[in-house]
Amino acid sequence: MLTICSRIVVPYDQSELSKQALETAITLAKQDERVELNVITVINTQTAVYNYVTFDSDPVRQAQLAEAKEMLNEVKEKLSGLPNKARTFIIEGSPAMSIVDFIVEENADLVVMGSRGLGGLKELFLGSVSHYVVQKSPCPVFIVK
Ligand SMILES: Nc1ncnc2c1ncn2[C@@H]1O[C@H](COP(=O)(O)OP(=O)(O)OP(=O)(O)O)[C@@H](O)[C@H]1O
Ligand SMILES: [Mg+2]
Repeated sequence: MLTICSRIVVPYDQSELSKQALETAITLAKQDERVELNVITVINTQTAVYNYVTFDSDPVRQAQLAEAKEMLNEVKEKLSGLPNKARTFIIEGSPAMSIVDFIVEENADLVVMGSRGLGGLKELFLGSVSHYVVQKSPCPVFIVK
């Protein structure tokens, strides 16, 4: 089967729309087992209050990492039924910029993400992360709404 994408990135924050984005990516991957899935979650280090002296063992950071791992374990479980190559990544940094850097570095050819995430201001159509990624991504972005 001919596909227009072979390496998909799914930015995942456990919001309802990011769950739907993951389902959409899985549906696309089922079309052809050569399609690769990369699910990434970014821990926002810009809003975190860490003690940088004890950065490695900082309890806030450790709790965030543990939560992200648990979240991605559920995702891994979900992906394990597919014959496709599927990977999960935890990145620490600015969500918007880290996602775009990842897309570029991994040479992705499609991003599938939610229009909104866990943030509050629902009157906007796009959140700050999806807005930035749509603007800066070198490849097409499939927005689930
Ligand atoms: N930290 C993150 N890691 C990975 N993906 C994320 C992260 N934050 C958001 N996303 C992705 O971006 C999509 C849109 O979320 P976004 O954060 O832009 O909206 P929001 O939370 O409603 O608004 P804001 O964060 O600006 O308050 C999500 O559905 C998800 O796919
Ligand atoms: Mg958000």
